[in-house]
Amino acid sequence: MEKIIAQNKQWIDETWEKLDAKLKVVSERSKNKLPYTTINGVHDDKTTSDVAWWTNGFWGAMMMLMYSGTKDEHYLEVARSAQSLLDGAFKDFTELHHDVGFMWYISSGADYKLTGDQGAKNRALFAASTLAGRFNPKGGYIKSWNNDEGWVIIDCMMNIPLLYWASKEIGDDRYKNVAMAHADKTMETHIRPDGSVNHIVNIDPDTGDVIETFGGQGYEIGSSWTRGQAWAIYGYVQSYIHTGKQEYLDVAKKVAHYFIANLYDSFVPPIDFREPEEPKTYDTTAGAITACGLIEIAKCVPEFEKKMYIKAAINILKETEEKFCNWSLDEDSIVQYGSEAYHAKPTGINIPIIYGDYYFIDAIHKLKGFESFNI
Ligand code: GLY
Repeated sequence: MEKIIAQNKQWIDETWEKLDAKLKVVSERSKNKLPYTTINGVHDDKTTSDVAWWTNGFWGAMMMLMYSGTKDEHYLEVARSAQSLLDGAFKDFTELHHDVGFMWYISSGADYKLTGDQGAKNRALFAASTLAGRFNPKGGYIKSWNNDEGWVIIDCMMNIPLLYWASKEIGDDRYKNVAMAHADKTMETHIRPDGSVNHIVNIDPDTGDVIETFGGQGYEIGSSWTRGQAWAIYGYVQSYIHTGKQEYLDVAKKVAHYFIANLYDSFVPPIDFREPEEPKTYDTTAGAITACGLIEIAKCVPEFEKKMYIKAAINILKETEEKFCNWSLDEDSIVQYGSEAYHAKPTGINIPIIYGDYYFIDAIHKLKGFESFNI
């Protein structure tokens, strides 16, 4: 693994420098925003229009990654400003959902881990309590959204690391037990035998049985939404890292093998591996998230297995950088060609989305050898 990283060192270093050069400028311009995408090259802002939107932690989380890698206090200041803006989401409990993990773990939780800030710790613990409170002990799952009792989306695997952390932090296994029950249930209900993944499953809230599956943000029922596969890869390897439960690593590897095998046309995935051949689509966000998961898997497996995961991650990231990154200092986003969903045409496909930038930075931050404090 070290050898492959060393062979790519120049590209990794140059990419990190380009990220720093661009984000120094963009962070100043967007320091009072919670961006989601860009409009004519300028970050939009969800602070007043939709403060509880699930992606609102990513901007502050990006700033924490840059602070971690550069120790430039400016990034920390912008990260703190983003956390203050996000506090608005705590004001209405009924607006919150399972994505409190995305919103507060990689922003406030990361801040606390890096700096010991007590306000950041408090925010992350409140978010953890909210997430644990969504657990249905009879069904064995964490409820995703507010109006659909039994609907569980694979994305939630990325929210539960908040619970593992909270358990450790307060010395109480309840949160970890909830997270593991959810991860176990999702293994049964969402992961298919061939390594592809259901996006949404409707689970009977009283018995835990599968009622039906939905295509969700993918092409159709039974298809294979690439970002859903990516959430499973990065999510399950994180569950393995926190618990040591071998099945979680095995699932992460199985979905990763399926994902890598499907990158036969391009290292940047389409929106759905089972979509029609035309029109050709891309979802760079799925690639960046998967690269992060693959790098973490490479750290967990024996030496002779590492090469496949790390090479695949670098292939995805290099193609993303070469073909889909915007390095202009005059425009705010970096990774282009993200897609919200297969059926989000025309406005929700081929757009920059904040989590594309976040996971691309996360992956380069890992390849630079900085500690993965955000998992
Ligand atoms: N978690 C929602 C999405 O990935 O679009």
